[in-house]
Amino acid sequence: MPNWYNLPTYYDISFSHEMHEELVFLKNVFKKYRAGNSLHLLEPACGTGRLIVPLSRFGYQCTGFDINNNALNYLNEKLNRNNLVATLFHADMVNFPIKPAKFDGAYCTVDTFRHLLSEKHAVQHLKNVAKGLKKNAIYVIGLHLYPKQGITNKLSRWTSRRGQLTVKTSMTLIGQDRKKRTETLSVILKADTKTQSNQYESVYKLRTYTLNELYKLVSKTKVFEIESIFDYDYDLSRPVVLDEKSDYGVFILRKVK
Ligand SMILES: C[S@@+](CC[C@H](N)C(=O)[O-])C[C@H]1O[C@@H](n2cnc3c(N)ncnc32)[C@H](O)[C@@H]1O
Repeated sequence: MPNWYNLPTYYDISFSHEMHEELVFLKNVFKKYRAGNSLHLLEPACGTGRLIVPLSRFGYQCTGFDINNNALNYLNEKLNRNNLVATLFHADMVNFPIKPAKFDGAYCTVDTFRHLLSEKHAVQHLKNVAKGLKKNAIYVIGLHLYPKQGITNKLSRWTSRRGQLTVKTSMTLIGQDRKKRTETLSVILKADTKTQSNQYESVYKLRTYTLNELYKLVSKTKVFEIESIFDYDYDLSRPVVLDEKSDYGVFILRKVK
């Protein structure tokens, strides 16, 4: 079974769908919490650089790493085609090389943080990101939460187009293990051109977090505190207060030491 992250063109088209608000939000976050044009930003698990490309174009100095070489090669070519420069390397989110106090900010959205399947790995990741951040710098994490009422919407579908290519994505929650705090997702990508149609299924696990579990994790690291929280609206002027029924949050973590 293919891993959809091994299909960078299709992943990039699929996940670039309706990302404008997310991108504007990130630019505004770094403008608000860290003044300056040429900020140095880190994206752990950057994938195809959906965000690195526009942020580099905007003038930020971006560094990204990922465990998937296909995605990194795709991103490298995209940067070259656009005469942009970013620092890329192959590494695991659990244990990646980082220069201390180099970055003005870091971000990890669209549930990517949940690829860290154990508490030990999540803590290790957060501590390592904190090590790379300058004093008081922030780490933006966007993820779905496990709400008290359970997950009612088990299927998401969307269609994205680029040139001749149409990518239809269906993401279905096919399994849950509350004890191990994992969920299993199936993603079906259907890629159509005028002459060809291909379909790929990818199945993978993500770690689940209730709001409380996320609070506990952040506090356990002792290196971050939660500065503010936002929701699907990505409205920086309207921080939100989440509760146990909330199913999504964008958390602004501030490095405390
Ligand atoms: C949902 S994609 C997000 C990609 C990119 N951050 C974005 O916003 O489009 C998740 C990415 O995490 C990467 N990934 C998963 N587990 C990883 C790990 N342990 N270390 C590094 N990258 C990982 C995958 O290869 C994939 O590129």
